Amino acid sequence: MQLFHTLRELRTFLDGHAGQRIGFVPTMGNLHAGHCELVSQAKSRADIVVASIFVNPLQFGVNEDFGSYPRTLQADCEQLRDVGADLVFAPAVEEMYPDFDGQNLQQQVIVQPPPLADILCGASRPGHFAGVATVVTKLFHMVRPDLAVFGKKDYQQLMVIRALVRQLNFAIEILGVDTRREPSGLAMSSRNGYLTPAQKIQAAQLYAQLQQLRAALHSGRRDYAALSEQAVSALNQQGWQADYVEICAQQDLSVPAADQTELVVLAAAKLGNTRLIDNCEVSLK
Ligand code: PAJ
Repeated sequence: MQLFHTLRELRTFLDGHAGQRIGFVPTMGNLHAGHCELVSQAKSRADIVVASIFVNPLQFGVNEDFGSYPRTLQADCEQLRDVGADLVFAPAVEEMYPDFDGQNLQQQVIVQPPPLADILCGASRPGHFAGVATVVTKLFHMVRPDLAVFGKKDYQQLMVIRALVRQLNFAIEILGVDTRREPSGLAMSSRNGYLTPAQKIQAAQLYAQLQQLRAALHSGRRDYAALSEQAVSALNQQGWQADYVEICAQQDLSVPAADQTELVVLAAAKLGNTRLIDNCEVSLK
């Protein structure tokens, strides 16, 4: 497995493999079994798998965890090699943002995501999805993959990426992969590392709430707003600061009609200073 920090090295390697099917897994590093699953899925569908590791400053808000986000390049590379990645691209900020002046990114050209990026996490993290859309566009231009793999854990992000690929005419197949979980049900996340052992046990409550909503929907309830409010208060009573719990239509994250069968329940909540997100699809057919 090769590790490259510059675009020039990346392109030289990939140009030497022209005609081969390139699978791509973008990440911010501090990898866990969820990320590794994406790489395995890419590996089974492509000749060469590229993983990128880049903590993208453009997608973090001013008071968010860009500075403290765990950077574990060596351990990440070992995991990527074990799951069969061929190449790791870990660029410096100046490689991704050519006008970076040492303080400001000076990235004036921004990819504006569709309106579905303004709700849910987009409402609590203004500019976040524009930052994601911009960096993913850059990475797509650099890697030129045939296939790119994303996790459903970041459900809204996956929908933004699908719209980006369609509306900017990227010839890239997008594969969404199911969320890998701890035995407790907690979705694996790099941010779980911020949790104390006690918080990590408690964190399973988030997925438990989603499953309760799923059961309520299966039992015939369609009072989406009331169900969401109940889940928010239950989380808050358990010591969380819920940001949102919403029942949405899978296709566009809109408020579902009462006869809609393909739903997704999405939640974001803080445990202490750690903001966790999770979701589960519900099919009522
Ligand atoms: P990051 O949070 O590192 O996640 C990288 C990819 O791993 C994303 O597609 C995410 O959905 C997926 N992932 C995370 N946890 C997962 C889990 N438990 N099971 C399955 N997949 C999981 O998402 C980002 O980075 C960034 O926004 C990025 C797309 C790289 C742009 O900067």
